[in-house]
Amino acid sequence: MKKIIISAVTLALAGALVLSQTACEKEGSSSSNTSNYNENESHNMGQNCMNCHKSGGQGDGWFTAAGTMYKADLVTLQPNSTVYLYTGANGTGNLVATLEVDAKGNFYTTNAIDFSGGLYPAAKGPSGTMHYMSQVTRTGACNGCHNGSTTDHLYCD
Ligand code: HEC
Ligand code: HEC
Repeated sequence: MKKIIISAVTLALAGALVLSQTACEKEGSSSSNTSNYNENESHNMGQNCMNCHKSGGQGDGWFTAAGTMYKADLVTLQPNSTVYLYTGANGTGNLVATLEVDAKGNFYTTNAIDFSGGLYPAAKGPSGTMHYMSQVTRTGACNGCHNGSTTDHLYCD
């Protein structure tokens, strides 16, 4: 009888443990979210946002395009700058998306963006000079390449 009680307690404890672990590993939702100038809600500057903000990932919101903008020194963040995605090189073709960089230097969106044909990114800071990426990207995970080691951080001035 005693043995039965003990195993029941063990089971209950194990159950509670499993429950609390599931709660910690809860997946992020697909809730819609796009960055705005002066906002402070983001974090993890310079990291590949889509490591977590993807379907099945823990980040809240599944981003279609996201990254971090720096100043020309590639170290200081460049808040309140702007990212553009065009279908053509050097700002030609259609402007598919305009993303506001927030107060932390991050930009992100969960809006549907079609990268299948490749898109040409551009960036503009307070100087007003447009910086163009000379090739297309087929992914919106900008920091996946612009990580500061294999490819320079994103920048504008
Ligand atoms: C290591 C995983 C991870 C990385 C990398 C990551 N995030 Fe997150 N993010 C999370 C988690 C988990 C949450 C929800 C809990 C919280 O707010 O911390 C979150 C929340 C957020 C929120 C708030 C969402 C809301 O609705 O309140 C924003 C905005 C955000 N992340 C932006 C970014 C950006 C931009 C990047 C890349 C520069 C990034 N995150 C990188 C895990 C991550
Ligand atoms: C597959 C890797 C890769 C991805 C993904 C990528 N880039 Fe780039 N990007 C590069 C490389 C390499 C250069 C430098 C050569 C050039 O301009 O094509 C560059 C240059 C740039 C430049 C011009 C230099 C600068 O930093 O001002 C901008 C702007 C830019 N990228 C924006 C973006 C944005 C925004 C995204 C996400 C939507 C993105 N890139 C995704 C590889 C990538």
